Parts: sequence; C-alpha cells; structure tokens
Amino acid sequence: MASSTRICDTEQWKDLKHWIVMRHAMLDVFYSEFDGMLLDYSRQLATLETIDKLFKLAEAACLKEKINKMFNGERINSTENRCVLHVALRAPRDADIKCDGKNVVPDVWQVLDKIKEFSERVRSGSWVGATGKALKDIISIGIGGSFLGPLFVHTALQTEPEAIECARGRQLRFLANVDPVDVARNITGMNPETTLVVVVSKTFTTAETMLNARTLREWISSALGPKAVAKHMVAVSTNLPLVEKFGIDPNNAFAFWDWVGGRYSVCSAVGVLPLSLQYGFSVVEKFLKGASSIDQHFYSATFNQNIPDKSMATRNNTREVEFVHFGFMPQHLVLLGLLSVWNVSFHGYPARAILPYSQALEKLAPHIQQVSMESNGKQVSIDGVVLPYETGEIDFGEPGTNGQHSFYQLIHQGRVVPCDFIGVVKSQQPVYLKGEVVSNHDELMSNFFAQPDALAFGKTPQQLQNENVPQHLIPHKTFPGNRPSFCLLLPSLSAYNIGQLLAIYEHRIAVEGFIWGINSFDQWGVELGKSLASQVRNQLHASRKKGEPVKGFNFSTTTMLKRYLEKTAIHVIRRPRGEIFSFKLYPGHSEGLTSAEMIQRLEPTLGDPLYLASIPHLPIHFVWTHGATLRLHHSRTPSLSPRPCFNVGAVPRTGFTRRKEASADVPPDPPALLPHM
Ligand code: F6P
Repeated sequence: MASSTRICDTEQWKDLKHWIVMRHAMLDVFYSEFDGMLLDYSRQLATLETIDKLFKLAEAACLKEKINKMFNGERINSTENRCVLHVALRAPRDADIKCDGKNVVPDVWQVLDKIKEFSERVRSGSWVGATGKALKDIISIGIGGSFLGPLFVHTALQTEPEAIECARGRQLRFLANVDPVDVARNITGMNPETTLVVVVSKTFTTAETMLNARTLREWISSALGPKAVAKHMVAVSTNLPLVEKFGIDPNNAFAFWDWVGGRYSVCSAVGVLPLSLQYGFSVVEKFLKGASSIDQHFYSATFNQNIPDKSMATRNNTREVEFVHFGFMPQHLVLLGLLSVWNVSFHGYPARAILPYSQALEKLAPHIQQVSMESNGKQVSIDGVVLPYETGEIDFGEPGTNGQHSFYQLIHQGRVVPCDFIGVVKSQQPVYLKGEVVSNHDELMSNFFAQPDALAFGKTPQQLQNENVPQHLIPHKTFPGNRPSFCLLLPSLSAYNIGQLLAIYEHRIAVEGFIWGINSFDQWGVELGKSLASQVRNQLHASRKKGEPVKGFNFSTTTMLKRYLEKTAIHVIRRPRGEIFSFKLYPGHSEGLTSAEMIQRLEPTLGDPLYLASIPHLPIHFVWTHGATLRLHHSRTPSLSPRPCFNVGAVPRTGFTRRKEASADVPPDPPALLPHM
C-alpha cells in the first residue's frame, strides 16, 4: 500500500466491512500458549475466516514492513523525525539494533551498568546522604511516561515475594501531579536525610515536573543545606545540559535517547533507575528479559500464510464451533492488535476495558491509557491527511473484582465494551483459610472465569422463564451476550511476566496504529493545553504581583479567573525586623500555601529571599528581614482546616531546622493576623 493510500480504500477493508454485515457474532474457540501464558481469543466476535481477512488487511497495510522499519531504526516517527527503538532498551547485550547506522545497544548497556553500579552503592550504604545516613527512601518525580510505567511496574512488584525481600526497609514513592497535595502526600513521613530524589523527565522542561523538582530541592536544601542537593538528587533525562543547569551533578544523571518515546520509556533509566534502587538491578533485569522475549516473538512474525492453520482444528463436541489449540505463534501478538481494530473500526466499539484479576496490576490500566490513547488518539494519517474513520480506543479499567462492583453493569447490559481479562495462575500472596470452600485466590479467579462467559453468552428470556422469573422482571434480568473479550492467563506475576505483559500491550498498540496508518509515536494533541496554561500562569502572576486585570481570555474563562483571584484572601502580618517568623500548614490546605507558592508570593513583598525550613505538615520559618508588612494570600475554601491556617509567633532564632515548638497548633500571637485587605 502506498503511504498515501488510506487503509479504508483498500479491498481488504471493504471486504471486512461487508463481512461484518454478514457474520456478526460467531464464536470459534481458539487459543495459544507461550512461555506458560495462555491467550484465549474465543470470545471475540470473529471466526477463523474473520481472522484470515484481518491478516489480509495487515498485508494491505504493509504491517510487516512497518514493524521491520521500527526494529531497523528507521525514522518512523516522521513528525518528530525520530526512530522508535524502545525495543533496544531491553535487548540482550550482544544485540545489534541500529539508529542512523549506529548500534545503540552498547549505549543502552552502558547506562544499565551505571544504574546497576549506582543502585548497588545506594542500597549497600556506600553512597550516603549529606549527614552520613544511608538513603533508603526514593521519591521519583516525573509525569506521564516518566511516571505511569514505573508506577505500574512498582505496584506489580510490590507484593512479589522476591521483590519484597529485595526491597525490605526501603520505600519508593512517585510524585507526579503539580498539585501541592501530591507533594504533601509524598513527603509525609519522609526524612530528607534518608531520601534520594530522582527527577525523571525526558525533556527536563515539563512544567509540573520541574516545579515539583524545585519544591523538593527546597525541601532538601532547607533541611540539610544547599550542598546536600548533590547527594540527595539525581536525574534521568535526554537533556543533560538542563539537568546540570538545575543543579544536579551531571555524573549523577542517567541518560536516555530521543528514540525512546516518553510512554515507551519504562525500560530505560526512567523506570530502571527508581526500580533498581528499590528492588535491586537483578529483579529489574528479569523484567527487561520478559519484555525482550515478547519483542523477539513480535519481530519474528510473518503473515504470509493463512492464520490460524485450519488443519490443526479439531471439532468441539459441545458447541457448533471450531476448536483450535496451537502453540504460540508470533502472529498472535499481531492478532491482538488486529482484533482491536476489528472492534473499533468495524464493530464501532470505541472503548476497551482492561480488567486484571490481580490487585498487583492495579496500575496497568492507567499506564495503558497513556500508551494507547496518547499513541493512537489521532485524527490524521501519518501523511497528515484527515481520516474518514476514528482511531484509538478509550481505555479504562480496574482490577477485578472491584470493577464488577462498579462499572460492569454497563458492560453487561448497557454499552458494548470489549474487555481484556487478565488472570494469574499463582497468586503472589496466597491465602487459604481453614474451613473455606476455596482459597482466596480461587475465589478471585472464579470471577475471572465467570465474567467472560457472562458477557459472551448472556442470559435469554427463555432461560429466565425456565427459572420462573416473574414476567415483569425478565427484561431487566436479560443479558444480551455477544460481548467480546479476550483472556490472558499468566502463570504467575514475576518480574519476567510483568515485562511480558508490558511488551504485549506496547506491540498490540503499535499494530493498531500501523493498520490505521497513523503516527503512533508523536503526541501533538497535548501541546495546546500546555500553552494555554502558560498564558494563564502569566496572568495569575501579573494579577497577583502587579494587580493587573484579567485580559485576553474569553468571557467564561475571564469570569472563572476573576472569581479564583477574588476568592483568594490576603492576610497582613506585621513583625519587627530580624525576628523569625514561622507558621504551619495543615493537611488539605493546598491552594496557595505551598512552600513554593509561599516563597513566590512573599519575596516581592519583603524584597529579600525568604528562608524555607520545611513544607506542608511541618513548621515553616522565615527570617523577618525588613520589619515590613508581610502579605499572606491564602484561599478560604471549605476544605481548609477549621483551625487557623497558620500559626504566627516570634520564636527564638535558632536557624532553619525543624523545631517542635514552632509547630504548636494554637497561634501564640493571633492579633498578628490583620483583617483581610
Ligand atoms: O503529556 C505529554 C508528555 O510529553 C508525555 O508524552 C510525556 O510522557 C510526559 O509529557 C512527560 O514528559 P517529560 O518526560 O519530558 O517530562
């Protein structure tokens, strides 16, 4: 297919459109096995012939060629002129994967070796913090792809027996949202002396990440002195000059490359560094190996034969269907993507539910949301031509059984939502209570096995009648069935299996994008909101600091902005020069009284830099340099603590370390709070 030809104009696409009219829902039973994984496609609204036609569509879309181009390091991300080589991040040391004629695998391993060495030093206590204490706690700052993948893997490993052992006495937290509440939550209970902050940003310009990084830099330097930053902050980025400019020692920066898309970066230092600090490199290496095993199968896929091979089919006696069981074939990874296209573009089902029957996989859906929706939510072809069909899926999900008690009502009797059911044979944390009918994991898995059938086969009015259901309830209790799902049964949830799962989704999503003929590796759709936010940021700054009126926005936004600015109360406090001023922030007190914002607001009033000792939940100390008027802005929303939002009082000058006496809940000097201006 020439790149300018739309896939919807091909005979293969039209044939499938016709096919959907003729054969809506015929279930054939077919599944495949690989490395202990069982993939069951039986409940898709597809027959063997459908699959055959889907593979013909893949040929028409030049799928194999596109996969090859990706693995061969061609610049398939054409709008950013980049290669797409996340597969190189988990390739074996001796692999040869080229970008612009240069094998990138040695560079990958150089960084992996550096991570191994650094994480071992931190974990063994040979790298210590500024006060000589071992760094046992990690806060990883990053957003989007610099957060969701690592969080998914961390959450999945957290209850895995080997990983638990390796992480004993350590904790890993993720700070993503620029909401100061997220800062508060992350530093609560953390001691800067024993904390290592990892700033993760491909660009090192993302507004949320950089403000959070500055906030935690302040948290560290105010507690331990500015020099402590070198010992307590490291970075992961492709932009090493900006890392250095930020104040992080370039020796403590871990590189990756522009050929790694943010949402595909969990296998780079983005994920490998924080995860190795928490679990040790050897556990993380297993995760990389799992992903690599899937890469190799995906790459070896050929589609020049009819799939599946009908000669392997045997008749199933109980249902009038074909029953096909074959060893795992690489084509099956491709088939996952093809069936998604089938559901979206031919059946018109816009969403997909990701339903892992494992609490350890609770962050799979949020991660796949980004991988899938940022990749495939596009309106034009890779050549920039507006598409006459919709691309992408609306991904959402929850672990079973929680989802069952939430949104399954809709997927059983309301809208048709193709579902991914993911189950695990062996629980990470088995429990079997004496006297119970089944183990806890069996109880969970009973639901895993039941739900796909409930969706596929439903319940007819006739069946309900046979059960003597009252006539008036029969419409309410009828289940239409014919609702597609796919089941993946993993042998266990080891680091290796988690890597496999990640790669399965990454490749499935790439296949969809290749068929739709879009660029799955850029993300221009996130830019407009970012630039509008920057305009708002400038306005807030100008209004708060120079009293400038709101201008340049539409009526609706102007009204909202004015209300937001008006509802911010101002407190004026007068104290004599030289005194130390302290106050305490309360949990929930998020709008306008974070450390960073406080400094921003106080500096112009006082004219001098203020000294920050700590941030939410701890007293904050300022040196009263001018004896001037101090204006404190703070929101008076109902979410605030009913107690005074800060304590003001003269306290002895003892420096800027944490002091218990300053954190008293009752303000010692309430008259210092003057009426609002
Ligand atoms: O949301 C847009 C985006 O560019 C994502 O693609 C990316 O994962 C995220 O922002 C974070 O970017 P960075 O790693 O550069 O901070």
